[in-house]
Formats: sequence, structure tokens, C-alpha cells
Amino acid sequence: MAATLMDGKAVSSAVREKLALRAQTLRDAGIEPHLAVVLVGDDPASQIYVRNKERGCAKLGIRSTVIRLGADCTQQELEDTVRKLNEDLSVHGILVQLPLPRHLKEETVIALIDPRKDVDGFHAINTGNLMNGVKGFVPCTPSGVMEMLRYYDIPISGRNAVVVGRSNIVGKPMALLLLSENATVTICHSRTKDIASFTRAADILVVAVGKAGFITGDMVKPGATVVDVGINRVDGKVVGDVDFESVSEAAGYLTPVPGGVGQMTITMLLKNTLDAAQALGR
Ligand code: GUN
Repeated sequence: MAATLMDGKAVSSAVREKLALRAQTLRDAGIEPHLAVVLVGDDPASQIYVRNKERGCAKLGIRSTVIRLGADCTQQELEDTVRKLNEDLSVHGILVQLPLPRHLKEETVIALIDPRKDVDGFHAINTGNLMNGVKGFVPCTPSGVMEMLRYYDIPISGRNAVVVGRSNIVGKPMALLLLSENATVTICHSRTKDIASFTRAADILVVAVGKAGFITGDMVKPGATVVDVGINRVDGKVVGDVDFESVSEAAGYLTPVPGGVGQMTITMLLKNTLDAAQALGR
């Protein structure tokens, strides 16, 4: 039996319809939601992601500004840019596109962002809030995954959830969100022995490792929900971390790549930007 595909575009459209109304309400109240994106260097993938963020904002009537800094920009220049955006009363959301060139310190830059404008949810205040179950900004990709699970009525409470990958952007916050909905959560990573023994026990399997075809059908419990967060380029084609052909035979639900989770990341960024504008109230 082939898996039901979870359509990121459909879920995105449904969420963005509501967000468009919220954006209008804010504008009617004299607040123009405004996202500032800082892009350092000329990494081709980052350029594409940032362009898609600009387009997403434009469609919803959110103002966006992209600040482009050269690949040779200094730590001081980057920090000054963030400080200026913190102080800019017209800016509600600040996003520093990652990864940064190697000579720049990511943690220091993230720590500098005003937590009230941290629409990525990467600042320690926001990760701490997530850890403590307190309201705050939640990283966009994992919150997009939760939105997709909700849309398709996938039961979470009491289920075994396995997250493969332990990044700060996806794996760790993903595990916390699933835990907050009462899943029994396991995180697997590059040092995990016999990953398949864990993935085969998963009712919900979220994969974010950046390796094309990493999860194959024999590693998936029949009927499981499989969420593929990977974006890999193979022979000019975009593929996920899941071997689509074999896994779609085993899984009950599966997110395709492209057309799955990727759509949701920007949608949740737009939501966070509106939340920031609403909370700042100016
Ligand atoms: N690079 C890849 N994903 C992300 C993201 O969600 N936010 C930022 N700032 N950079 C990224």
C-alpha cells in the first residue's frame, strides 16, 4: 500500500490564508509587519532561501528588507548590523541567514538579536522557553512539522517518536515539541549504534540528517508517519533524506521532497513575524 503524501503546499496555503487576515488586521491598526534578513556572503543555497523568504513576505503584505554583507565582512560589522536592527522601531523580525562564513561566530551573533525580534527562535531565551514549556518563538522548520502533523490528524500523545539528527535548528527543537505533545521521544544521531532498531519502533519518524536516501523502507515500521526534512541535491535534482520509493511502500503517511516540509518553514517564519509585530505593537 502506498503512503498518503502529506502535501506541504496545501497545509501552507491553509495556514497562510489565516495569516493574510492577521497581516491585514495589523496594517489596519497602523502596524506594518517588517522582517529584516541579514545575508552574509554569496552561498547559492542561502541566496535562494532568502529570495523565497522575500517572496513569501510580499505575498502576505509583510514588508521585508534584506541587508547583504560581503563574504569578507568582519564580526564587528555583522554585530553592528544586528544592533542597528534591534534599535530600529520599524523592524519586528530579525533573521540572520545561516550558515555564516567560517570566520564569523554564529553563537555570538544569535545571542545579540533582541529575543522579541528573534523570529528564528534561535536565541537562548527562546530555546530556554521551549525547553521550559513557556510561550516564545519556536524554530520554523520543527513548528512547521507540528503544523503538518496536526493538519493530517496524526496522533502524537503516547506514540513513539524518533528524530534522526540533533541540530539546534531542527533535531533538538523537534524532539522538544514532540515531547510537549506527550510523545515518547528518542533522538538518534551519527554516533547511534544500530539506528534501524530505533527507527523501526517509531510511529512518527522525523529525519533531518542531510544525507540523500538515508532512511530506506526496511527501516520503517509499517503504517508509520515519516517526515523528511532533508534537502539534498543529487544530479541536479532535489531529494530528501528518505528513499522515497521504498519508504512510500512501508509508511502510512509521508512528506515528499520537494513539496513537503520545505513549504512550511517559510510559512512559520511569516507567522513568527506577525506574532512579533503584534507583541511589539508598533
Ligand atoms: N539556514 C537554513 N535554515 C535556516 C533557518 O531556518 N534560519 C536561518 N536563519 N538560517 C537557516
